Amino acid sequence: MKNRRILVTAALPYANGPIHVGHLVEYLQADFWSRFQKMRGHECHYICADDTHGTAIMVEAKKRGITPEQLIDGVWKDHTKDFADFQIEFSHYSSTNSKENRELCEEFWHAMKAKNHITTKPVEQLYCNHDQMFLPDRFVKGICPKCSAKDQYGDNCDVCSATYSPNDLKEAYCSFCGQPPVKKNSDHPMFQLDHFREFLLQWLPEHTTKEMANKMKEWFNEPLRDWDISRDAPYFGFKIPGFSDKYFYVWVDAPMGYISASLQFSKKLGLKFEDFWKSENTEVYHFIGKDIVYFHTLFWPALLKTAGYRTPTQVFVHGRLTINGEKMSKSKGTNIPARNYLNHLDPQFLRYYYASKLSHTVDDFDWSESDFTNRVNSDLIGKITNLGSRGAQMLKKKSDGLMTEMDSDGQKLFAASAAKSEEIAALFESRDFARAISEIRGIAEETNRYFDEKAPWKTLEHNLVETKKVLTTTLNIFRMLSIYLKPILPIYTAKVEKLFSEKSYQWSDATQALSNHLIHDYEHLAQRVDTEKVKAMVEESKPKTATVPIQNPNQKLSAAPSAKAIKNEISVSSPDSGEIEIDLFSKVDLRIAKIIEAEEVIEADKLLRLKVDVGPLGTKQIFAGIRSAYKAADLIGRHTLIVANLKPRKMKFGLSEGMVLAAGAGGNELFILSPDAGAKPGDKVK
Ligand code: MSP
Ligand code: ZN
Repeated sequence: MKNRRILVTAALPYANGPIHVGHLVEYLQADFWSRFQKMRGHECHYICADDTHGTAIMVEAKKRGITPEQLIDGVWKDHTKDFADFQIEFSHYSSTNSKENRELCEEFWHAMKAKNHITTKPVEQLYCNHDQMFLPDRFVKGICPKCSAKDQYGDNCDVCSATYSPNDLKEAYCSFCGQPPVKKNSDHPMFQLDHFREFLLQWLPEHTTKEMANKMKEWFNEPLRDWDISRDAPYFGFKIPGFSDKYFYVWVDAPMGYISASLQFSKKLGLKFEDFWKSENTEVYHFIGKDIVYFHTLFWPALLKTAGYRTPTQVFVHGRLTINGEKMSKSKGTNIPARNYLNHLDPQFLRYYYASKLSHTVDDFDWSESDFTNRVNSDLIGKITNLGSRGAQMLKKKSDGLMTEMDSDGQKLFAASAAKSEEIAALFESRDFARAISEIRGIAEETNRYFDEKAPWKTLEHNLVETKKVLTTTLNIFRMLSIYLKPILPIYTAKVEKLFSEKSYQWSDATQALSNHLIHDYEHLAQRVDTEKVKAMVEESKPKTATVPIQNPNQKLSAAPSAKAIKNEISVSSPDSGEIEIDLFSKVDLRIAKIIEAEEVIEADKLLRLKVDVGPLGTKQIFAGIRSAYKAADLIGRHTLIVANLKPRKMKFGLSEGMVLAAGAGGNELFILSPDAGAKPGDKVK
């Protein structure tokens, strides 16, 4: 096998907040892959850095009352600690706010100019006179030009998903101070991406999957637009040479971080930097999420080509993590920071779980509590770890701890399992981790069957010689599985190395069987997932604010699914007392509504879809979690109480435009509130 030199990168996380479990999809997957390559005897370096520039960082620092430098220093420490605790092994973890990175940006800039890829154009942007800054799209809010939903961001609408320019928003306001921004013109240097049209059309199918290349080709139906590579002061970033008030847009210096990190680590390890970015002898792979493909497969190769650097061998794109079928959400506690996970659960569980779900495609994948608990408890613990713990404890406690030879059934089973070694390696190589795990689990199942048929616990007393052969087989296959799992579970496998008193496993060790080999004492390998801890983790991840009691506070409010959303909407600043001012309460628009349609939601067994008449406000669709207490048909025609100004929420099955109020213990003890006769649809609760 030819020895390869490989450079692996993962997208640089923004330094404005903590790493969460969604990010970890990427950092873990790239870690699995790099560790696998090393076990195969290749030279593989996994590098990354914090992405430290841009408006969001500047704003976050201001909010915390510290300098951007202080913010990014603190975040760097948190990020690197989180990664280390998740057993993610970087060869080097840098920051884009470095001298090397600044110099690279300048070098690339001079190349862009020298090769005539820069043009200058006036750009009209929104500017806040009060905050004295240009407002990036995300910091302008207003009314969606398409569906008229209120409080939408400057680039797209959460309600109808329309995308637009912040200039098109109606009644735009600055998200910091609420004042209307003004329009301001300034000249911006632009990178002429269309110069690279032919180059990119050829490059894409060679360096991304067919699926991705086809998707990206859609951009080529029109001329590729000039890319605005600058931002006006105030901005946290690198100044563009020759300008006093212009900075490189963060997406220029961010990918540059891949190279500057390589520069630093080649120096650290005494390697030649040119071998990585100026030579095709090294394979370079970028792991990224599907939200940032545009930057990595259009701008980035064009920039690299401009400056005379090589382009990546492949860009590996993964999908997004959803939790319980939905986008990660702070209010639901599913935007789980890595640290909150670590406070409650073993990082190896998440490593195993993600591996058991990940493939090479861009499909999204879902984390659900029951699936997570099952895969870890029933597969990793119940099927795989049990082989080791039962085998080793029996051999050590009931006998002398000496592995002998395998019996003939065992030899066959071992040979069949060892024969899968290259197939499993190929699955790791193609990043089909889920299929690799499924092969590994398959071997574990067969071995459990063998173990149960041979029933060594029964033969122990009267036939120790045969029993030891069975335990020898079981332990040999357990050892093999641990080697296959080593890229995923390095700490676990390190304990297995200790159990068998062996040095650090390479992939090729898997197919060798041990005989006449003394084992160490069995050290506990992994615990089962405790579902209480999963719940505690979610609880800890919910925003820490008090909520508004809307009804009689002695009665528990348990309402439609958007109950939590309202908690988030009307959080108050005094978390200890729970009291609110009357004007905060009066923001809640409670109305009488008449239910005119009701039906079960097929995909969600707790929900009813209601259509309600709210008089002058028109009709609204509401998804209400009251199905356990009401038959849909019985509700039609009834009057009830709703929160009418709850921000509409997009759910899998449609838009929920309000909340029905219900009280009670839950389950079938849930009672919607009804007004006395005479109240009309649309009447406001005062
Ligand atoms: N700073 C940029 C990347 C610059 S690379 C030169 C960025 N940062 S990020 O912090 O928002 O995201 C880092 C990576 O994590 C991205 O590849 C992103 O796709 C990935 N993920 C963030 N949330 C995710 C999920 N919920 N699921 C899967 N991956 C996720 O983008
Ligand atoms: Zn402002």
